[in-house]
Amino acid sequence: MAHSTNITWHAGELTRRDRVAALKARGCTMWFTGLSASGKSTIAAALERHLVQSGTMAYRLDGDNIRMGLNRNLGFSAEDRAENIRRIGEVSRLFADAGVVTLTSFISPYVADREACRGMHVAADLPFLEVFVDTPIAVCEARDPKGLYKKARAGQISGFTGIDDPYEPPQKPELVLRTAELSVQQCVEECLTLLRSRGIVSK
Ligand code: ADX
Repeated sequence: MAHSTNITWHAGELTRRDRVAALKARGCTMWFTGLSASGKSTIAAALERHLVQSGTMAYRLDGDNIRMGLNRNLGFSAEDRAENIRRIGEVSRLFADAGVVTLTSFISPYVADREACRGMHVAADLPFLEVFVDTPIAVCEARDPKGLYKKARAGQISGFTGIDDPYEPPQKPELVLRTAELSVQQCVEECLTLLRSRGIVSK
């Protein structure tokens, strides 16, 4: 609930239809979720490059990056992770409303938080495409690009997702990417197929 009182929603002077017609851009949020090192950021970055280079306004919101700015006051407790995801849900909804293909890459370990983000989009009549980057923890741990699993196993990080903090897989994601079996390019293709099937991109 908002803490402020005496506030009134200002609707602006454009409908969604006006905006889409003028900008020729249809926004959405593609929400990547999965364990650390599952491949979320890698796939989102490759997809962003493809989309932008082919003329689609796309933008990536990345967990580690956002935690250096907007969410730098948050840690990894359940409450902070929920707030991290709530803020990104709101920001991605704004981007999607503006006509941007928004790619979010956050572990977003809790079903309830992701479903709340979906709800914000549904309420605003914006597509929310949940992509489960389904990589077994053994594979993530073998990749360990930031050395964080090693630290978590050594007890130097507590509450690390998949080690001593939960990850709740999506129940009905729009797409599942098994990165242990697919190349980055194949994952990008699958995302593009989904975006095309929803009429968000044509190329
Ligand atoms: S989320 O759980 O709140 O969605 P987010 O995606 O923003 O997480 O940040 C995860 C990134 O923070 C990881 O990729 C990793 O680099 C780093 N990190 C640091 N501590 C932890 C931790 N305890 N659990 C998970 N990731 C952590």
